[in-house]
Amino acid sequence: MSTQAPAISQPPDKLADTTPRVHQLIRSRWSPRAFSSRQISDEDLKTVLEAARWAASSYNEQPWRFIVAKKSDPEAFNRVLGVLVPANQAWAKNASVLIIMAAKKTFSHNGSNNYYALHDAGAALANLFLQATALGFHGHGMAGFDRQRAQLELNIPEDFEPAAAVALGYAGKPEDLELENHRKMEAAKRQRKPLSELAFSGTWGQPLVT
Ligand SMILES: Cc1cc2nc3c(=O)[nH]c(=O)nc-3n(C[C@H](O)[C@H](O)[C@H](O)COP(=O)(O)O)c2cc1C
Repeated sequence: MSTQAPAISQPPDKLADTTPRVHQLIRSRWSPRAFSSRQISDEDLKTVLEAARWAASSYNEQPWRFIVAKKSDPEAFNRVLGVLVPANQAWAKNASVLIIMAAKKTFSHNGSNNYYALHDAGAALANLFLQATALGFHGHGMAGFDRQRAQLELNIPEDFEPAAAVALGYAGKPEDLELENHRKMEAAKRQRKPLSELAFSGTWGQPLVT
């Protein structure tokens, strides 16, 4: 069996409209809601988690933890699906894998509050998403889940904060989405604020680029 990563191929209308030198991997990542019935292999699942593992973190704390539920384990899958808000359940039920990511709130070396826990967990998730893109499938982050229920029903210890839910899967057909607004969003052009609004030169408010 080949262990080579497949070429990145995404629908051209979903490619980010960046300046030309931005890496193709970054341009190609996007968050679909329509997933096909193709399942992610255990090897690929392990690879995206491995990519997450190698993110940078404050004090190398690695505060991220992942509760992973595969479609092939319906009990676990439905447990995670059940904590998502209904609007996310409507499409995420077709994902191959659902994940709840939690972040450790304190530093292990001295027990103090880790202000950067969620920041660093987000960096791990960014790695996971890009690795998924490189392997030809997609990750879709979700804030829309019940954090209290996730904490209780997934046995997340008190020192960990449920941070985000994630759906993983291969892109499917937009027309198969149940909700009209999801079908519309699937077809919409991807948008970003201009860099002039985001990056300042030396002090707040002076655009670095025009
Ligand atoms: C932390 C986080 C939470 C999100 N929450 C949701 C969500 O609850 N439901 C949803 O449909 N999309 C959710 N999204 C997806 C965003 O809407 C999406 O990333 C954004 O519109 C940009 O689109 P793109 O990822 O295709 O570039 C979330 C993304 C992130 C990173």
